[in-house]
Amino acid sequence: MKILVVGGVGYIGSHMLKRFKETNYEIEILDNLSSGQKENAQNYKLYVCDLLDKQTVYKILSEQNYDLVMHFAASINVEESYKNPKKYQQNNVINTINLLECMKDLKINKFIFSSSAAVYGEPEHIPVTELHPFNPVNPYGDTKAEVENALKSYEESCDLKYMSLRYFNACGAHLDGSIGEMHKPETHLIPLVLQVASGRKKHIEIFGDDYPTQDGTCVRDYVHVMDIVEAHMLAMENLVNTNKSQVFNIGNSKGFSVKQIIQMTKEITKVDIPVKILARRKGDPAQLIADNKKITNILNWNPKYSDLETIVKTAWNWEKKLKIQ
Ligand SMILES: NC(=O)c1ccc[n+]([C@@H]2O[C@H](COP(=O)([O-])OP(=O)(O)OC[C@H]3O[C@@H](n4cnc5c(N)ncnc54)[C@H](O)[C@@H]3O)[C@@H](O)[C@H]2O)c1
Repeated sequence: MKILVVGGVGYIGSHMLKRFKETNYEIEILDNLSSGQKENAQNYKLYVCDLLDKQTVYKILSEQNYDLVMHFAASINVEESYKNPKKYQQNNVINTINLLECMKDLKINKFIFSSSAAVYGEPEHIPVTELHPFNPVNPYGDTKAEVENALKSYEESCDLKYMSLRYFNACGAHLDGSIGEMHKPETHLIPLVLQVASGRKKHIEIFGDDYPTQDGTCVRDYVHVMDIVEAHMLAMENLVNTNKSQVFNIGNSKGFSVKQIIQMTKEITKVDIPVKILARRKGDPAQLIADNKKITNILNWNPKYSDLETIVKTAWNWEKKLKIQ
């Protein structure tokens, strides 16, 4: 099987590529390097191309006979999505439609989409099942919901079969320490707390400590990037075997608060973490925890690395490496 990994040299995509090294699949990458690094290509063929450039995307797809496309490319900064909604509509929605149009014309009909728990917004119940209605509370979440809706239309119109994987909070780094999270700017909690531990940052900001949670800080479902990658392998095999579109939550089904993350970081790094309590941010639900029964039952997926200790330890190994660079 020949697979195109779009956005393959970013954080999650690069872990996917490393997992593909253990298989016989033929892999190529398309990425515009806007946030990914070309060193992450791991000797796979990399087309440096922007999804906006539909003509070039079409040319690459038409010359290469892909069986399946995995789509990791997106803009992912929630705060930026408020300031620049056009960028998010363009990159996350219109550019994805460009890709789907090319696939439609070329009859490439298998697609794996990186969706997000952001489609749920402030959940009506915890844990959140896949049947929870879409209610995104920020423009980034809107774009993921829009693409998921578009996928249904493409299935109707051209028999596209897809897997929509709604990741909760992706985190951690490869166990071998070779790759990890490197968003610029970094906005995710765990790498930011670790930057404080390594001395790259002075303190960690906590946005609100008056939420209706056990310690007043927001609770999230953290899922290790290597577990996310394994979910992709299982979802892809299921899609190929059943030819049936499905939607899955990819989460740990356990929640950790911001304060619990900070405490675990202190224990692992043996460094004190100064904090600053600020006001709540717009668009931050108090709690977001996945119900992962669907993926554990249907795909037999079980998170292996998503305990908080492994998450923080692997991310800490990576942060120490980044600090030296
Ligand atoms: N990181 C998380 O916690 C998280 C949670 C839920 C969903 N997701 C989704 O997972 C996917 C991957 O996230 P990530 O954390 O690896 O992000 P990332 O920024 O590290 O990776 C995205 C990759 O896509 C590329 N890209 C972006 N726009 C492009 C375009 N127009 N054309 C070609 N390439 C383009 C970037 O250069 C980068 O390599 C995204 O779709 C994101 O919305 C991430």
